[in-house]
Amino acid sequence: MNKILVTGGCGYIGAHTIVDLIENGFEVISADNNSRSNENILDAIEKITGKKVKNYKVDLCIYDDVVAIFQENRDIAGIIHFAAYKSVGESVKKPLLYFENNLNSLINILKCAVEFNVSNFVFSSSCTVYGNPDKIPVTEETPMKPAESAYGATKQMGEQIIREVINSSSIKAILLRYFNPVGAHPSALIGELPLGKPENLVPAITQTAIGKLPMMQVWGNDYDTRDGSCVRDYIHVCDIAHAHILGLNYLLQNKNQTNCDVFNLGTGNGYTVLEIIDEFEKASGTKLNYKIGPRRPGDVIAIYANNDKAKKLLGWNPEFNLQQMMATAWKWELKLKEDNKLNIPGSAN
Ligand code: WQD
Repeated sequence: MNKILVTGGCGYIGAHTIVDLIENGFEVISADNNSRSNENILDAIEKITGKKVKNYKVDLCIYDDVVAIFQENRDIAGIIHFAAYKSVGESVKKPLLYFENNLNSLINILKCAVEFNVSNFVFSSSCTVYGNPDKIPVTEETPMKPAESAYGATKQMGEQIIREVINSSSIKAILLRYFNPVGAHPSALIGELPLGKPENLVPAITQTAIGKLPMMQVWGNDYDTRDGSCVRDYIHVCDIAHAHILGLNYLLQNKNQTNCDVFNLGTGNGYTVLEIIDEFEKASGTKLNYKIGPRRPGDVIAIYANNDKAKKLLGWNPEFNLQQMMATAWKWELKLKEDNKLNIPGSAN
C-alpha cells in the first residue's frame, strides 16, 4: 500500500515531488488537466527516475471524473493535493476564477478521500495565509491576517475546509505552508515553466538574463528594510518537494501530533530583492539589466519563516543554499534555450 495520488503532478512543485516519491519507493499516479502545465514533464521525470508516471488528464472540478480515478485505483494510500491556480496578481483581477477552481477541486478530492477511505492527506498551503504579519519570523501559531489576495484567501479557506472535514471523518492531514519556492532539479531536466510573462522574481531574473525579457524592475526600494526592497524566504523546490515525502511518512507511520498538523516550509532566512539579484549575478556570471520601479500593489513588506517545527517533527533540513538556488534556476533557463534551439516540444514558454 504505497500508491500516492499527486494532483497537479505536471506542475512545478508536483513534478519535483514525484521524482522524490519515486526515489523513495512510492508508486505514483498523477491527476493534472495540463491547463497550466505540460504533460511532457512526465518524460523528463522518466529520464531522471526510469519510471513512467500515469497521468489522468481530468479537470478536478468535475466530480464524476475525479471519482473515476478512485474507482480505478482502490489502493491509494495517500493524496498530495497541489493542483490549483497560483498567480497572486491574476487572482486579484479574477477572484471568482480562483475561488471556483481552487475550492471546487479541493472539495471534490476531499469527497473522494472520505468516500474511498484514503486517510492521509497533504495540502499545499502558502505563507500568504499570514497576510501582512505583525511579527517576523512567523511561526505556525502566528495569527492569520486578512489575505492580501483571492489566491491567499483560497489557501486560508482551503485550510479551514480541511479542518472541518477532518473533524467529521477519519482523514488526517498536514498543511504545508510554502514560502517562496525557487530553483530547479540539479539535472535541469525539470523546472518551472511560467505561462506568459513571469510575475515571480526568479523567473523574471533568469528570463531577463537570457534575453527573453529586455529588462526587469525591482518593485520598490523605499520599504523599511535593510536596502529598501522587500524581504522573502526563498527555498529550493527540491527541499520543498522532500518535505512532502517526510510529511507522508509522518502520516503513514502515525507520528502526527494532531489530525491536522501545520508546517512552515522556508529556510528561516530572509533576503531582499536586491540581495537575490546580487547572488544571481555571482552564480551566473552575468550582469542583470534592471531598474527600480514603483511598489507592487499587494506586496507584503517582509516575511520569513520560523521552520523549527518542520525540522523537529518531520526531520526536515533544507539542503540547498541561495547560491545553489540561483545556479540551478540559471542552469534550467539555459537548458530551455538549448531545447528551443533544437525545437524540443514542451520546453517553449
Ligand atoms: C518576490 C519579491 C516582489 C518580480 C510568492 C508566490 C505565492 C506564495 C508566496 C506560495 C517581491 C519582487 C518580483 C519582479 C520584483 N507562495 N519582484 N520584480 O509575491 O512573495 O509570492 O510567494 O504559495 O504564490 O507567488 O513572490 O516572486 O512574485 O515576489 O521586484 O519582476 O520580488 O515585489 O518583493 P511573492 P514573487
